[in-house]
Order: sequence, then structure tokens, then C-alpha cells
Amino acid sequence: MNNNKNWIDQRFPLTKVWNEHLAEYYTPRNFNFWYFFGSLAMLVLVIQIVTGIFLTMHFKPDAIHAFASVEYIMRDVNWGWLIRYLHSTGASAFFVVIYLHIHRSLLYGSYKTPRELIWILGMVLYIALMAEAFMGYVLPWGQMSYWGAQVIISLFGSVPIFGPEILTFILGDYAVGDPVLNRFFSLHVIALPLILAILVFLHIVALHTVGSNNPDGIEIKKNKNKDGIPKDGVPFHPYYSVKDIVGVVVFLMIFSSIVFFAPAMNGYFLESSNFIEANPLQTPNHIAPLWYLTPFYSVLRAIPPMFGSQFPGVVGMFASLLILIALPWLDRSKVKSIRYRSWPYKIALGIFVISFIILGYLGMQPVTPINALLARVFTLTYFGFFILMPWFTSIGKTKSLPIRVTE
Ligand code: HEM
Repeated sequence: MNNNKNWIDQRFPLTKVWNEHLAEYYTPRNFNFWYFFGSLAMLVLVIQIVTGIFLTMHFKPDAIHAFASVEYIMRDVNWGWLIRYLHSTGASAFFVVIYLHIHRSLLYGSYKTPRELIWILGMVLYIALMAEAFMGYVLPWGQMSYWGAQVIISLFGSVPIFGPEILTFILGDYAVGDPVLNRFFSLHVIALPLILAILVFLHIVALHTVGSNNPDGIEIKKNKNKDGIPKDGVPFHPYYSVKDIVGVVVFLMIFSSIVFFAPAMNGYFLESSNFIEANPLQTPNHIAPLWYLTPFYSVLRAIPPMFGSQFPGVVGMFASLLILIALPWLDRSKVKSIRYRSWPYKIALGIFVISFIILGYLGMQPVTPINALLARVFTLTYFGFFILMPWFTSIGKTKSLPIRVTE
């Protein structure tokens, strides 16, 4: 065994990498519930890639055969129904995990110096993940696949001057059809998964360069013993590798209950109209993306067209997403963690989270006068969180930070 290890170590830095990133990688000893979601996001990425490989073996990226090939997977392919439901449930599970992971960053100020790059890479991951999910949803070529693609792609047509050219460039045609299905398939199965895997690698490299934040938001590297080991640090392996297994087991219990007992999740994970084949001649009554994209869809609908163009809404929608990248520079607070923050910040974060959830809910509902009004109010509070952040993070009394982590 040792001989084999030495043989590899002389040719590849196996033990060095193992020690630097696991066995001698010191992580704060006070991680809590919120720290499960990074490793769970990696697990879901693996589930998606593995189930995706098997789906691709039977799926036909062709406007005439795509829908039937999914039905074939569901009915005739051995365990095909399970592979498909693991993948479709996995998509929603990915966003549940990512939203909790992002929420943790907000709670403990994990995006603040020196972790800005981890945050930026995370945001790029989030955007790539949304593109991946959107394109995946088009592939089964159901009614919602088709009309969802129609609505979202046509937004690019509203860009002044170049809109129509951009639109035909994306469509490869003058309407949603076979070329879109083919290029989305290619992007969904190879281009974006590759980008996601590379980004996750960079995200972790950046994290291991600066080290993890923790629920107290203090830097454990500033307080080391005589051997240069952080006093409040524990080796990632075995302490957190074992803790993360607990998260994985609980996650898999919840995940498999959904896969086996409620894979459509009452229309939230798979919409009923997507069990009907795409029909370009029949627009569904109500078109909405899946739940994880609806907060941004709500912002799009909340901003009224100008001179008959939807462009302001499109700009607002992208702005509502991209503004998150600026967070490390908008937050002026001296402390990172919510435990030591001032009241104005706690209230603002609460309003922000509520606004995001309500926007998400409204994005799934039909537009009525009251819904439109609410979407506008919560779009304002959503943007208000960022615009007013330099102000509310510099007022109010913060608690003094402990020298050592508190748990
Ligand atoms: C596929 C998607 C992602 C994967 C696999 C992933 C994975 C991880 C892992 C394993 C960690 C370390 C463990 C932990 O802190 O939970 C981490 C930390 C972090 N991630 Fe992600 N992440 C993803 C997406 C994101 C996104 C979308 C954001 C935010 C926009 C983000 C922001 C952060 C930050 C700020 C940290 C440092 C946290 C701290 O030290 O307190 N990540 N990520």
C-alpha cells in the first residue's frame, strides 16, 4: 500500500493535495447547519451529471422526436422513469441548495474581504446554473418548454437596433424550432456542465486560498498557535467530511421522498402543461418559468414597457441579477456576521429576503392589477436593499467582536 502511494507521490502530488486540502486544511470549528449546502451543491451537480449522461443515451434532440423520446424513457427504458425524475427533481433541489448557500453568505457576510472572488465566482456559477436549467427545460419539447423558450428568447428581440439580428442569431430561424432545440441540447449537455465544473473548481481554489468564514465572521487565521495552526481550526478531514455525510444522508432522505412520492411537486418541479407536446399553434393560458427563475421574471413584468418596447423590463431583470455581484463593495459594515450587525442591517436583510420570496410567488401568478402593483412595490424594496446598503450598513450600533470563535 505504502509502496503504491510512494510510487504515485513521486509522479503526482497526491498526498500533498490530500493534506493541503483535506487532512491538514484547517476550518473554523464552529460551522453550523448553514455550512452543509456547499458540499450538497457539489453532490447535486454530480447527480445531475450522472443522470444526465443516462438520459442523453435515450433522448432525441429533434423537434419531431424529442417529446416521444422522453415518453419512451419514462415508459420503456429500464429505470428510465427513475433517471428522469432524479434529474428533474435534481434541478429544483440544486436551486433549493444554492439559495440556502447564498443565504448563508448573506447571514455571515461571507462575500466581504477577503472573499470577494469566491462570491463573484459563486455568482457566475449561479447565472450559469440558471442558463443550464432554462435550456434543460426546453429539451422535453412540451408546451411549457416551447412557450417558455418563446417568451424568454423573444426578450432579446427588444434590444434597440440590433434586437432582430440577435433574435435570429439565437433562434437560427425565425421562430422557436429544431435549431433552438439542437443548440440548447449541445449547450445543456456539454458546454454549460463543463463551465459549471470549471467554475466549482475555481470557487474551491479561491476558498482554500483565503480559508472559510464562519458564523462569527472573524478570521481564524489571525489567531494561530506556535505551530502556525489556527487555534480555532480543525482539520477538514475527518471532522467536516464526517459532518457533511450527515447532511448528505438527510438530504438524500428528503430528495428520494420527493423523487418517489411527488416528483412533479404539485406543478412546482414539473408543470402539468409540459406533459402535453409542444404545439406552436396553441399558446397556453398562462406561461411562467419554474419557481427558481420567477423572482427575476417578476421584475421583468413589473417594469412597464416604454414606447411599446419591453427593453426596460429586460434591463431591470438582468440588473436585479447582476447587482448581487456588487455586494462586497456596497456593504460598509465593520463586522461580517449577522450576530454582531446593527439593527438597520437585520431589518433590511429581512425585507430583502421577504421581497425575493414574494417576487418569486408573484412570478408564478397571472398578472392582475393587484399582482402588478405588488410586484412593483417588491421590485423597489429588492433594489432598495442594494442602493441603500452603503447607508444602512454604516449606521446603527454593531456588537464588539470576540477574539476567539464563540462555540
Ligand atoms: C454549483 C454551485 C456551487 C457549489 C458546488 C459551491 C460549493 C461551495 C463549497 C463546497 C463551499 C465551502 C463549504 C461551504 O461554505 O458551504 C463554498 C463556499 C462559498 N460559496 Fe459556494 N458553491 C456554489 C455556488 C455558490 C454561489 C451561487 C454563491 C454566491 C453567489 C456561492 C458563494 C460562496 C461563498 C461566499 C463561500 C464562502 C463561504 C464561507 O466561507 O463562509 N457559492 N461553496
